[in-house]
Amino acid sequence: MTTNTNQNTAEPADPRVAIVTGGSRGIGRAVSLKLAEDGLAVVVNYARDASAADETVKAIAEAGGRAVAVQADVAEEKEIAALFDRAEEEFGGIDVVVNSAGRMTLSPIADLDLAALDAMHRTNIRGTFVVAQQAARRLRAGGSFIGFSTSVVGTQFPTYGAYTASKGAVEAMTMILARELRGRDVTVNTVAPGPTATDLFLDGKTPEQIDRLAKTPPLERLGSPEDIAAVVAFLGSPAGHWVNGQVLRANGGLV
Ligand SMILES: NC(=O)c1ccc[n+]([C@@H]2O[C@H](COP(=O)([O-])OP(=O)(O)OC[C@H]3O[C@@H](n4cnc5c(N)ncnc54)[C@H](OP(=O)(O)O)[C@@H]3O)[C@@H](O)[C@H]2O)c1
Repeated sequence: MTTNTNQNTAEPADPRVAIVTGGSRGIGRAVSLKLAEDGLAVVVNYARDASAADETVKAIAEAGGRAVAVQADVAEEKEIAALFDRAEEEFGGIDVVVNSAGRMTLSPIADLDLAALDAMHRTNIRGTFVVAQQAARRLRAGGSFIGFSTSVVGTQFPTYGAYTASKGAVEAMTMILARELRGRDVTVNTVAPGPTATDLFLDGKTPEQIDRLAKTPPLERLGSPEDIAAVVAFLGSPAGHWVNGQVLRANGGLV
């Protein structure tokens, strides 16, 4: 008896193509550089800071890769549809979508500014659904959608209530979208980093707070954007394609 383990799998596109939202800075920037190094053409999305996006594209080009920068707010469906159009026009299709765009407002729930909650949830929840919707419609066979949560869903630190609630939504939709894409040969996974040395984590914290959080996991350091990019690149690669519907905590062993 023979077992067909490959019945829905198309030949890989050449080059494979990635969209990285929030690809201009922080973790998204490292993901863009890593995917380009792995041979993918990359659409580097950003919201406001065009110079950071241009700098990321320049770094990719200088390393011999292919990339373009495209502005779009992840919560705006027309802008994200245009972002996906641009990827198809520029590079011929879409194989990997990484939704790294995100924002974080920290506050005890008792003091939470509800306008700040709405703004953060618009990017983190609505933005994930807008990007996932386009990814679900357009990813080619063999493709992957990778969303972002946080390890604080597990650690439950005070002041992270509103932020962690938005990431709980991302975790909740992961397996559901994976199941909805049955038969398409497209995977859906979420990466949940621990403290990672980017502006989002470092801004507003004292050196003592940073040091304490860095010492918490058994590996006793902050994650680097490159640590997270390596995990994302694996999930988006043919080697990681058997991983589907999972939330992967990449955090040096933080619990
Ligand atoms: N760093 C950590 O410790 C940590 C831990 C757990 C999870 N995460 C998650 O990892 C992801 C990346 O975080 P990071 O630390 O790399 O953040 P970051 O350094 O603050 O970078 C954020 C990126 O997202 C973009 N962005 C923000 N709002 C956007 C929007 N509405 N539409 C499109 N792009 C938008 C920014 O572009 P502009 O500069 O143009 O605004 C920037 O490129 C986030 O989802 C975050 O929640 C981070």
